[in-house]
Amino acid sequence: MFRFATTSVRMGAQRLSAVARAGMPARRAFSSATSGSAGGAATGAAMSGAWRWAAGLGAAAAFGYVSMGSVHAGGVDYEAVRKAIADTLEDESYDDGSLGPVLVRLAWHASGTYSKKDGTGGSNGAKMRFFPEAFHGANNGLSVARNHLARIKKQFPEISNADLWTLAACVAIEEMGGPEIAWRPGRTDDNDGKLCTPDDRLPDAAQGADHVRAVFGRMGFSDREMVALIGAHCLGRCHENRSGYKGPWTRAPTTFSNMYFTELVGNRWTRKNWDGPLQYEDPTGELMMLPADMALLHDPAFAVVVKEYAADEELFFRDFAAAFAKLLELGCDFDGPSTTTKAVTAAGVVTAIVGAIIGYNYMSSSRADSSATSAPLSSQP
Ligand code: HEM
Repeated sequence: MFRFATTSVRMGAQRLSAVARAGMPARRAFSSATSGSAGGAATGAAMSGAWRWAAGLGAAAAFGYVSMGSVHAGGVDYEAVRKAIADTLEDESYDDGSLGPVLVRLAWHASGTYSKKDGTGGSNGAKMRFFPEAFHGANNGLSVARNHLARIKKQFPEISNADLWTLAACVAIEEMGGPEIAWRPGRTDDNDGKLCTPDDRLPDAAQGADHVRAVFGRMGFSDREMVALIGAHCLGRCHENRSGYKGPWTRAPTTFSNMYFTELVGNRWTRKNWDGPLQYEDPTGELMMLPADMALLHDPAFAVVVKEYAADEELFFRDFAAAFAKLLELGCDFDGPSTTTKAVTAAGVVTAIVGAIIGYNYMSSSRADSSATSAPLSSQP
């Protein structure tokens, strides 16, 4: 009934290529600077060593920043990994046509085990690959996501599973029309399940606001961040054979939107009459809410935020992007640069521009110097 929303995929693809394009001027600056100096020699337009150095430094610094800082940090071509994830999201034979929602759930469950009390849990280690975490009831069905990403890992063995799982969720959200999520690499993989957390860290869908606050509070989230994060239920569905619950929260489960909130506030929700666990249904019986979802409506403080997000999708996207980036970094101790890959890429572009300006200014002043002295540029030191 629900098919993959190709329009949002296209939107996402445009964003992805926009990011890829953002890196290109730097690369072009590098190659044109290189060929510029070579071409200059070939045409006899002699360049000073200093000019070559200045132009080369500006452009190479720019290229190097983009290249080493983001695109190939740690030997991983992150843009290529992003593309491999994006290209394999769509699968007509799976659920609503996309693996995106289950990839988001994988990253959330890997990260949501974190406890700020003792620093245990979190996405670092990719601990869900091991017993007992792989078999925790809350993680039922996530082998689909883990196995899918294991195939991508084979293509890019240098990326850690922990980085790949978290990056995949960001790419999936963006490809499904959601906000860009700040993400940075640096997670490592554990070799065994010794650091798996107990089977009580993730929220129980049957419970209410106190439980939601206790679980997300343990991770360090505010009320507002909790509501924003649970807004990811705009994606995907419940599967009877995984959680016991059944059905999607929205009619567009492969599009990231604020529809979870608009459905929550816009419907009259009643108890579903069935043999399964207590869940709620809309008047058509097609959409569902978990008891924990209903808690967002019934708790006065949560309800204020729910209404804000229902009325303002941009606000939801902004808050969600910040909270989700925070979630993916819980318990991670990054050695690398304290910035995002995208920020590094953007910084590379800025450096390229600065480099080009420095080079241009140097060239102008060198030309002025050379015309003043009439000395050939190539003879200058
Ligand atoms: C009170 C908090 C939460 C509860 C009780 C809860 C519970 C659940 C349950 C029971 C399912 C159905 C699993 C299945 O049957 O396949 C589910 C699915 C999902 N959850 Fe949550 N969740 C919570 C918070 C979150 C958060 C914070 C995120 C992400 C930031 C998230 C993302 C998802 C996604 C994307 C799915 C759909 C997966 C799919 O389609 O395969 N959830 N959740």
